[in-house]
Amino acid sequence: MAHLNDNFLKLSANYLFSEVSKKANAFRAVHPEAELISMGIGDVTLPLSPSVVKALHDATDEMANAATFRGYGPEHGYMFLREKIVNVWMKPRGVEIDPDEIFISDGAKSDIGNMGDIFADDTKIAIADPVYPVYIDSTVMFGRSGNMGEDGKWDGIIYMPCLPENGFMPQFPKERADIIILCYPNNPTGTTLTKAQLKEWVDYARENESIIIYDTAYEAFVKDPETPRSIYEVEGAKEVAIEIHTFSKTAGFTGMRCGYTIVPKALKARNAKGELISLNGLWNRRQTTKFNGTAYIIQKAAEATLTEQGMKECNEMIDYYMRNAKLLKEAITAKGLEAYGGKNAPYIWVKTPRNLTSWEFFDEVLAETHIICTPGIGFGPAGEGFVRFTAFGTYENTLKAIDRIKKWDVKL
Ligand code: MLT
Repeated sequence: MAHLNDNFLKLSANYLFSEVSKKANAFRAVHPEAELISMGIGDVTLPLSPSVVKALHDATDEMANAATFRGYGPEHGYMFLREKIVNVWMKPRGVEIDPDEIFISDGAKSDIGNMGDIFADDTKIAIADPVYPVYIDSTVMFGRSGNMGEDGKWDGIIYMPCLPENGFMPQFPKERADIIILCYPNNPTGTTLTKAQLKEWVDYARENESIIIYDTAYEAFVKDPETPRSIYEVEGAKEVAIEIHTFSKTAGFTGMRCGYTIVPKALKARNAKGELISLNGLWNRRQTTKFNGTAYIIQKAAEATLTEQGMKECNEMIDYYMRNAKLLKEAITAKGLEAYGGKNAPYIWVKTPRNLTSWEFFDEVLAETHIICTPGIGFGPAGEGFVRFTAFGTYENTLKAIDRIKKWDVKL
């Protein structure tokens, strides 16, 4: 009889957003007349931009022609896309990255979930809590979490709670960590780090031989010039950080699947003998073995988002969602609820009233406004007592939701 990976049995039966869908479907079954508005999962609603659609059509025509047809692509992704990222995205920010340090993938989620492959089994992970749930769930799957305590925390994970009391700023862990996970602009709290704050993390990682996994999925939403959009804007970060990007949120690609991860050649970790080894080659080995690349058509579409016209169209999308965020946050705050984020990120993080748990308030919001949000506890223990609203809905649905919030007799 084969033995399964017992670590999977430690996890709750459903992934966070599957659980939210399940709850929403159960509500629908009992209240078929209710018109639910989804403000749960951060899924985009605007259609693909004209530049992207044209690139998709053109690339499809190429694939339909024997002279221009392509089979397997290059391992790191096509050079046309990697060079565009370097020249159009990195260089204007003063970031010098070699195209061979960029690995195109089918999205940030896969890279986040897979990154653990290249680290030792006993790797100690510190995590800014709350965070995108894939980080904790995949740490559990890899067997690096220990066990869940009565406090709802995995005893093998170092949590760095980000709460209103500390300005949502993770504090340096008391115990040394091999890997430090930071996601900024933060999903779910919508808060950011300044360059000076990020520099403290880079310095800390350098002093402690730690590696930072920096998830910058929401960088395109940053308006504040003090907020870095890449950790490599901080000097010395290339020796300590892996950075994860996605086109999902930047260009509305959630249904297209394309992202990229930067693993600088200067970034090293120790092998069992204590020798320093570059992680770039290891990640390359992992990807070439287990991943066969993102479709050519999709990479051409991603390239189109980095043309002058493509970037203009992306910025219009971002502005559209950020208008939703602003209006939504104003409406929530006007009800007397405590709300954060929504300025440099498309998420509004709302404190539950009356000390309700996240799920209790999720149920109350659903029952009283027919709006689906996401319970904060799903993002980690420090998310208990909060819920998250996304601004990725349509403008029309956002206005509808705001109208319901205005009429809502919320008990504080
Ligand atoms: C979220 O809602 O937190 C994420 O956007 C979902 C995802 O990207 O997988």
